[in-house]
Amino acid sequence: MSKSSAPPRYAIVTGGARGLGREFCRALARDGHHVAIVDVDGAGATETLRMIEEHGGLAQVELCDVTDAAAWLSLRARLEPQWPQLDLLVNNAGMFGSGFVGTLDMAEAERLIRLNLLSVLYGCHAMVPWLIASAAGSAIQARRPHVINVASSFAFLCPPGMAPYNLSKAGVVALSETLYGEFVNALRRTSAAELEAQTRAAYHETPPGTVLPPHFLAELTDGLEERQ
Ligand SMILES: NC(=O)c1ccc[n+]([C@@H]2O[C@H](COP(=O)([O-])OP(=O)(O)OC[C@H]3O[C@@H](n4cnc5c(N)ncnc54)[C@H](O)[C@@H]3O)[C@@H](O)[C@H]2O)c1
Repeated sequence: MSKSSAPPRYAIVTGGARGLGREFCRALARDGHHVAIVDVDGAGATETLRMIEEHGGLAQVELCDVTDAAAWLSLRARLEPQWPQLDLLVNNAGMFGSGFVGTLDMAEAERLIRLNLLSVLYGCHAMVPWLIASAAGSAIQARRPHVINVASSFAFLCPPGMAPYNLSKAGVVALSETLYGEFVNALRRTSAAELEAQTRAAYHETPPGTVLPPHFLAELTDGLEERQ
């Protein structure tokens, strides 16, 4: 595994005990990240850690139920004193589920939405301020914080018999698009309070029949141009 001479970057990956999450952890460690392998499955996460360390990578296991908003805040409180910054959050933990509307097991549907969607909101809520503060405090221009929220093509295809899954993943896309606009503003040093004031003003100035006023759309369009 190649070890770069660049200073280490720090990444949190949820659902790192197996599957796609494990591969994220391994690839990021190969790329010079110190990875927090976040999962409820301690044995699987420890195996991911072993695989990373076997090749000289850096990682640590963090047991955390990502459907618990308070557990996210505890995770940040544990990591922040140990790490100089946070560079990347990967919200990957998720589950699959099927069932037709009208026949759903609603407790199971709610469990899926909590894991696939609410955990992503909780994770962003806990970690985005740290990501932004890390970028602000960095002298390294290239160090821009990133969030990867794992969705699915089902967010757009919406196949029948998959309503809770489709809606959870569509929600992840909507959250990510929203977060992108907020991130762009935050990185331009717009404070959260200013951004909230702008957003409130935008809605108050909106005449009936229009969605958003032009200056708010321009702000978003700037963000989209930067993304291309
Ligand atoms: N596998 C696919 O074909 C596919 C396709 C499209 C999108 N996705 C998405 O990719 C992501 C990963 O999929 P996968 O197939 O690798 O999943 P997986 O089932 O193999 O792994 C999910 C991981 O999440 C962990 N996890 C479950 N609940 C948790 C909780 N409450 N707190 C912390 N960790 C928890 C599990 O222990 C496991 O390690 C999911 O969001 C999934 O929806 C997968």
